[in-house]
Amino acid sequence: MTSINIIGAGRLGQTLAYLAQASGRYRIGAVLCRSLPAAQAACGFIGAGTPLCRLAALPAAELTLIAVPDGEIARVAANLAQGRFLSPGTVAFHASGAGEAALLAPLAAQGVHCASLHPAFSFADPARAVVDFAGTRCALEGDAAAFAALQTLAAALGGVPFLLAPGGKVAYHAALSVASNYLVTLHDLAARVAASAGIEPEVATALLGDLMCKTLGNSLALGPAAALTGPVVRGDAGTVAAHRRVLSAADDALYCALGTATLRLAATRLDAEAQAAVAAVLRD
Ligand SMILES: NC(=O)c1ccc[n+]([C@@H]2O[C@H](COP(=O)([O-])OP(=O)(O)OC[C@H]3O[C@@H](n4cnc5c(N)ncnc54)[C@H](OP(=O)(O)O)[C@@H]3O)[C@@H](O)[C@H]2O)c1
Repeated sequence: MTSINIIGAGRLGQTLAYLAQASGRYRIGAVLCRSLPAAQAACGFIGAGTPLCRLAALPAAELTLIAVPDGEIARVAANLAQGRFLSPGTVAFHASGAGEAALLAPLAAQGVHCASLHPAFSFADPARAVVDFAGTRCALEGDAAAFAALQTLAAALGGVPFLLAPGGKVAYHAALSVASNYLVTLHDLAARVAASAGIEPEVATALLGDLMCKTLGNSLALGPAAALTGPVVRGDAGTVAAHRRVLSAADDALYCALGTATLRLAATRLDAEAQAAVAAVLRD
């Protein structure tokens, strides 16, 4: 059995600790929060672990998960290093999406193998998360000496680990933000424009939801350039101009920015004259 300490047993920490314990392959050592009652409640959920609220009381462990909020990771790592609480040769990792393993630099300087393991999952509620986690992609980055242990852990949790290239963490997280957050922004834009056409909200939800899901399916199957349909890729500058006339100023700015990016995507399927006509309408 591999031993693991959990520092920061919130939504992610409790979920990963519960799944590690349930795998039967990990022994949960300490579960540490800033307050003892929070650590005790987390141990109750996990079904294992010793509740703690002081780093100095940490028992030895092969793995240390630092699952505190992003802004606290470097401070916790510095405190762990200052007290020399982790042994050289053990693995310490955090779970931030955008932060690199370098946040743990003071520990790396002491010979601790430091990495980040980011599950691309929304941990809103641990009780729901432990049920839904299986199949989640887990991005690994940092000291290669930590990878084998963390790949084994991710797989034991039900996740699917993959390695990120050095320096790729921020771009990785930006890609997730675009794919997840901005998809919602596009839905919101489409819903507001549909409302301005007098379409009832429940009809708009079905109409746009069906179209968005099928379009995403096409894009994933065929690739974005081949999946593109509509007035921009047809070179229909007149329709693009008509669209712009029914949009508010703010929505028009977003429409034009997206239209310009769409025109670049359509470049191989449009002749130069059609491209120039659509570009001119989007610029005016
Ligand atoms: N939630 C998600 O969907 C998600 C997804 C992917 C990655 N992550 C990453 O997972 C990490 C944790 O996020 P979370 O959403 O689980 O946060 P969270 O629910 O706010 O939990 C944070 C935990 O850290 C404890 N804590 C805060 N400061 C501490 C400190 N200085 N020392 C020790 N414990 C401390 C808190 O307990 P007390 O307040 O009782 O001290 C709490 O248990 C972050 O790096 C985040 O980016 C989260």
